[in-house]
Order: sequence, then C-alpha cells, then structure tokens
Amino acid sequence: MNTIKAKIAVAFAGSVPGVESAPHEMVAYDGQQNHPLLPRVMDTFRFNKDLFMTLGLSWNREWSRSETDARRGVWIGGPKGAGKTTAPEQFFARLGVPVLTLTCNRRVPLSDYISKMVPDGEGGWINQPGPLVIAMQEGYPVVLNEPSAMDEADLIAMHDIIDRGLLVTDDGTVVKAKRGFLVYAADNTMGYGDESGGYVGTNVLNSATMRRFFKFEIDYPNEAEEVGILQARFPNQVKEALSAFVKFANMIRAPYNQRQSQVTMSTGELIEMVEAAVYFDGLSSQGRSPAWFAFNRIMGGMPPVEMEAARSSFQACFQIDVSGQ
Ligand SMILES: Nc1ncnc2c1ncn2[C@@H]1O[C@H](COP(=O)(O)OP(=O)(O)O)[C@@H](O)[C@H]1O
Ligand SMILES: [Mg+2]
Repeated sequence: MNTIKAKIAVAFAGSVPGVESAPHEMVAYDGQQNHPLLPRVMDTFRFNKDLFMTLGLSWNREWSRSETDARRGVWIGGPKGAGKTTAPEQFFARLGVPVLTLTCNRRVPLSDYISKMVPDGEGGWINQPGPLVIAMQEGYPVVLNEPSAMDEADLIAMHDIIDRGLLVTDDGTVVKAKRGFLVYAADNTMGYGDESGGYVGTNVLNSATMRRFFKFEIDYPNEAEEVGILQARFPNQVKEALSAFVKFANMIRAPYNQRQSQVTMSTGELIEMVEAAVYFDGLSSQGRSPAWFAFNRIMGGMPPVEMEAARSSFQACFQIDVSGQ
C-alpha cells in the first residue's frame, strides 16, 4: 500500500469542530479512489470531537507502534443510529482508506469471513479467501457491526486476529496482517450487556475481548450539534423549524434516558423524519401535519403510552394539536 500524509485540517475540514487549526498530518492511502470498499465521503457527517480524537489515536498508533506491540482499534458503544458505524467509515473515507464493514450475528460463523469453498467452474471446489483475510492481506481496517450479538466463541477466536493480526487457517496457512488492518467495533453495548432492554440478543463479553480495544461510549449529539447536523443536511429549512425537530427528539429520548421506556429516537431517525416531513409538505393544505405524519412513518408502532406522550411532546414543540391524527 502506498501511504501519503494528509493534513488533518484539510482532510476533515468542516466535519470536526475546530479542526481547521489542527497542525498535524495523518497517514492516508494513495490510489484507492476507485476501490469498491472505499466509503464515499458524506459532506454532511459531523464527527463527535472526542470520538474523532480517539479514532486518530488508534490510527496514528497503528503507524508508529513497534512490530511487537498489539493493534488497537476502538470499541464504539451506544444507542442505535448515533453514528457508531458511520463514524469510522467516514474517518477512513476522508483518508482514502478502504474499510470492510461486517455485520455480526449468531448464524454467520467467523469461518465464513475467513474462507469459503466455491465451485471452480470445472466440477471441483476451490478455497477462496474471505473478506477478513483480504482486509488483513491488504491492510484495510474492519468495522464489526454488533459484535456483542456474535457467538462469544467466535469473538474469542478473533483475539489473535484483533491484536496480533495473526490468523492460522484450518489448512495451516499463516496469514499475517499488514499494518493498517485494525478491528473496530460498533455495538449497542460497552461489553457489559444491554441495560436498556431495547437491544435483544446482546451478550456480556469476556473482559479479555474488551481489553483489546480503546473504548468510546457515544450518545446522541447535544441540541446545538444536532441542529448543526440537520442544517448541513437540510440547508433550505430555517433553523427555528429544525430546532423544533431536535427538541421533539430530545423529549422522546428523556424517558429512555431515565430507563422508563424502551423507545428512543436516534439521530438517523430524526434525519429521516425531517426528510419525510419535507416530502409530505403538501399535507398541510389538507389540514394534516406533515411532521406528525412523517414521525409516524419513521417511529410508528410504538406502544400506546409512548404514543400519547409523543403527541403531547409534539404539541409542545410544534404548537400543533395532533390528537385526531
Ligand atoms: N454525527 C452525524 N452526522 C451526520 N449524520 C449522522 C450522524 N450520526 C448519525 N447520522 C446519520 O444517522 C444514520 C445512522 O447512523 P449509523 O452509523 O448507522 O448509526 P449506528 O451505527 O450508531 O446505529 C447515518 O446514515 C447518518 O446519516
Ligand atoms: Mg451500526
């Protein structure tokens, strides 16, 4: 892999608070512009500053550590739709680094990501390297989505891969990862299991697994940051209108944060609600609220108690009575 140095101030301009005055450079990859695994840069993505610094620590360390030091990706834990998966993808997108994102569950064994037998076209079978092996050989970071939903045995079997970049396959082949291969986790938990009740099927993880990651617990952005995210995404909407949406989302989140409800609203769902409200703008001429209609398309099916609470929060934020809608 050809590496180059990218100026942080330029590569991340506009996406991290205050980054324009950062004096440092970071390792970037050259010539990967057309690689299918290179995520496309989202101009509207706004990094949590502390998460950005943690991703930077992990990536810089990878390029300066001694050969015998362990690799360290970041375990990003937090609620749905907080940007846990997108943040490392967007971090690497801006550095031209292809990223392999894998979604974990009990049904897909680790071995499927390592190699697969495929027909050779002449009636026989050949062993084809899986995505994980390719990422190791090429030096691409891997993002594991929801690893706490994975079979624990599979995760433990990954320990050597995660920190030493070393894999010995069934047939004895040794795969030694290139520098740049790092494992990141985007999970609803911090390894201690789910305390909210909203994430079925998550396991408490072995502390030997968790020790192999830097840790970052993320929550939804604060009000000003989230209004900023919406403004970047919907530049034609006035700030006051976008603020009402963010206030509404925060009212939906409050009982969840106090562990009184399993329902919460993510940044991702908030963005989709605004998008649908803009799309359904014409409904207002029929005496219906586009924003409430949009909310139901995104968050519909909530239990009746939460739905009633949402109606009164909606009235408080938008000054519209939607009791009959
Ligand atoms: N900080 C952010 N800036 C812009 N968009 C965001 C941000 N966080 C989340 N989103 C939006 O929310 C969607 C869901 O994010 P995702 O990374 O899938 O969440 P998670 O992995 O935490 O469940 C993304 O597609 C993105 O559009
Ligand atoms: Mg995710």
